[in-house]
Amino acid sequence: MKIIYLGHASLGIETNGKQIIVDPFISGNKLAKHINLEELKADYILLTHAHQDHVLDVETIAERNGATIICNAEISYYYDKKGFKTIGMNTGGKFETDGIKIKSTIAFHSSSFADGSYGGNPNGYVIESEGKRIYIAGDTALTYEMKLITETIGQLDLAVFPVGDHFTMGFEDVCFASDFVQCNKVLGYHFDTFPPIKIDHQKAKDFFTSKGKELILLEIGSDLRV
Ligand code: NI
Ligand code: MN
Repeated sequence: MKIIYLGHASLGIETNGKQIIVDPFISGNKLAKHINLEELKADYILLTHAHQDHVLDVETIAERNGATIICNAEISYYYDKKGFKTIGMNTGGKFETDGIKIKSTIAFHSSSFADGSYGGNPNGYVIESEGKRIYIAGDTALTYEMKLITETIGQLDLAVFPVGDHFTMGFEDVCFASDFVQCNKVLGYHFDTFPPIKIDHQKAKDFFTSKGKELILLEIGSDLRV
């Protein structure tokens, strides 16, 4: 699996010959000016919740690529009405497509569209493909529920957590979260985009190193493989 950091909480995932874009927020991100939205390929768009900093570019990408939007029930109704292809899940459910398994997990956050309409429960996802397993936490607080993930699904190869604090966990809580999911390899996202979530990269990485863990903070546009 190849994971490309597209800035903020946006990820590109290439696996099994398919492209998944997670929470596209690119045109509104000053730090992601070098990412060309028009060149992004997507078979699927995976959404954790309805906040604008997670769905801003959904329609542009879905229209251009004919992509299917995988999300919670309420977000799927919203995009269904606009004529997009959607698969609506809900917390705890799993779904398999093109050999890629996707399980919706618990996240503690809120979820509303920019116009204030209800966006259902926020979620994270575990994606399992090509013998690898990654957890994308979505916007969330630290929660004991994370302990269930590895217990019920199995060992993770990578955990993606928000590290910017203020709207989500900060990196100190993410250290606990990585214990809960028994995964010491963490990719941080949801940081630096806005003033309240600007973080000191070295301080965050050093904190992880002092606990025997690894915090990866990718440059926007770069990638890692699991
Ligand atoms: Ni949010
Ligand atoms: Mn957010």
